[in-house]
Amino acid sequence: DDLRYATRDSHAGRRVLVTGAARGIGRAIVEAFLRRGATVGVLDVSEDEVAGAVAAFEGIRQGSAIGLTVDVSDYAALATALKDAAARTGGAFDTVVNNAGISPKHAGAAHRVWEMDPAEWGRVVDVNLTGHFNTIRALSPAMREAGRGWIVNTSSVAGKTYSPIVACHYAATKSAIIGLTKHLAAELGPFGIRVNALAPGRIETPMVAGVAPEINAAQVAMTPMGRLGQPAEVADAALWLTSSEASFVTGQTIDVAGGLYM
Ligand code: NAI
Repeated sequence: DDLRYATRDSHAGRRVLVTGAARGIGRAIVEAFLRRGATVGVLDVSEDEVAGAVAAFEGIRQGSAIGLTVDVSDYAALATALKDAAARTGGAFDTVVNNAGISPKHAGAAHRVWEMDPAEWGRVVDVNLTGHFNTIRALSPAMREAGRGWIVNTSSVAGKTYSPIVACHYAATKSAIIGLTKHLAAELGPFGIRVNALAPGRIETPMVAGVAPEINAAQVAMTPMGRLGQPAEVADAALWLTSSEASFVTGQTIDVAGGLYM
């Protein structure tokens, strides 16, 4: 389905940073933005996987992809990588899709709060929450100066309501993203920068593939649309939120969840 995004060039000329871009939802977001004509920064932690993702998209004629190997939780390394990318592509990113996130293990006896390793708690906060702050901290000055910018964060249905399949660190960071999104929409709105978030339900990605089939089946049973979501369906929402069709939408967290936990 090579023509899926080829009919319009709504994002031509845009420079889009996608974090956690080597696989899963992030990778689908990269493809969507490339097909809409954007230059896309493909950011992930493994050099090989970043190179593989960039190579996989070489055939797409509309946009161009560049790789950035960096951990979003490391502000200094991230700022350097973004500076390099700006030099390579001739300008700063005007759009960021903060997608990188981890859910180390799903709920189980060892993941109740009274047994959780404090270091694991810290790591989830560093990646899922501070990682969002870091990209926005680094990119917002140029967006502000330009008087335009688009930011999409990644929450989760598990940040809106109790989900038995995640642990407390994951739920806490995904709730925090909703507050971060509202606050930054207020701070940055006067400068023409829109800030929104996505709250995916159960999406078929490597993160979810590691889970016992009966857990996914139970989630599907609670989903009115009766299936798992596809990464491309989350990517479509990211495209919309960063397009001119959403020009008066900011501070919102949009569920892409087939009706799970409405
Ligand atoms: P995934 O685990 O399949 O892919 C995540 C990507 O992020 C990987 O390529 C990984 O290497 C990268 N990443 C992890 N830590 C990083 C770091 N410190 N710096 C840079 N990159 C890093 O995950 P998936 O399923 O594609 O999820 C993407 C986002 O969507 C996450 O924020 C997740 O919490 C969220 N989400 C996913 C849902 C699902 O059902 N798959 C449901 C709700 C939210």
